[in-house]
Amino acid sequence: MRNDNPYMSKLYGRKKSRSLNTHSQDILKNLFPKYKLGDVSISAIDDDIEFEIGFGYGEHLLWQAINNKNKMFIGAEPFISGAINLVRDVNEKQIKNIRISTDDAIDILDTMADCYLSSIYILFPDPWPKKRHHKRRLINPNNIHKFHRVLKRSGKILIASDHKGYIHSILFHFLRDNRFDWICEKSSDFTQKPFPSTQSKYEKKAIRNDQNPVYLTFKKLSL
Ligand SMILES: C[S@@+](CC[C@H](N)C(=O)[O-])C[C@H]1O[C@@H](n2cnc3c(N)ncnc32)[C@H](O)[C@@H]1O
Repeated sequence: MRNDNPYMSKLYGRKKSRSLNTHSQDILKNLFPKYKLGDVSISAIDDDIEFEIGFGYGEHLLWQAINNKNKMFIGAEPFISGAINLVRDVNEKQIKNIRISTDDAIDILDTMADCYLSSIYILFPDPWPKKRHHKRRLINPNNIHKFHRVLKRSGKILIASDHKGYIHSILFHFLRDNRFDWICEKSSDFTQKPFPSTQSKYEKKAIRNDQNPVYLTFKKLSL
């Protein structure tokens, strides 16, 4: 059957690293199962669960987990070297409140119950700048619908980007969706990071290149 929906979930970009050295293969085989989403359960008492989509090398997720021990964090990153980096750090620091997946985050969202997450982070998603690739963008009307379903009432989605075209498109789609409040009263609400954390690789790169990251926070309305 032909699929006419341009935003149907499909994972684009780099998934596998070219070749993994023995140390990385060892981490994947022996350590990853200790933190893998699905293999290691999430306790029923974890009612404050945050999800990072596309965590890259995992700097932000690691920082959040270390500094918020009362919360559970889930991260999805299909780029294997990034996931291996986070697994190694999580294991070294004996972090208990992170679950990691190398699957497509949108497939993971589809397995979650309604109103499951308190926050979703999407930091520096691939901007796919060419017009013919816009349909590959992670933040699109289909996925905004999914974010809305899995977020608790007043749950937040926190986004960072340094790509003006993508920022416009994100704002356009969220405001058109009409089921989120854009938390923005003054200019510093989008020029300064609205949550404490360390800088991710792409955040550092943007700042180094004077790209001025923009931070967008949307709160689920109780409609
Ligand atoms: C530009 S990088 C940013 C990485 C990191 N957030 C940072 O700020 O350094 C975007 C990441 O999103 C990941 N990604 C893209 N689509 C994804 C999806 N559907 N599920 C999970 N991760 C995804 C990519 O693999 C890539 O590592």
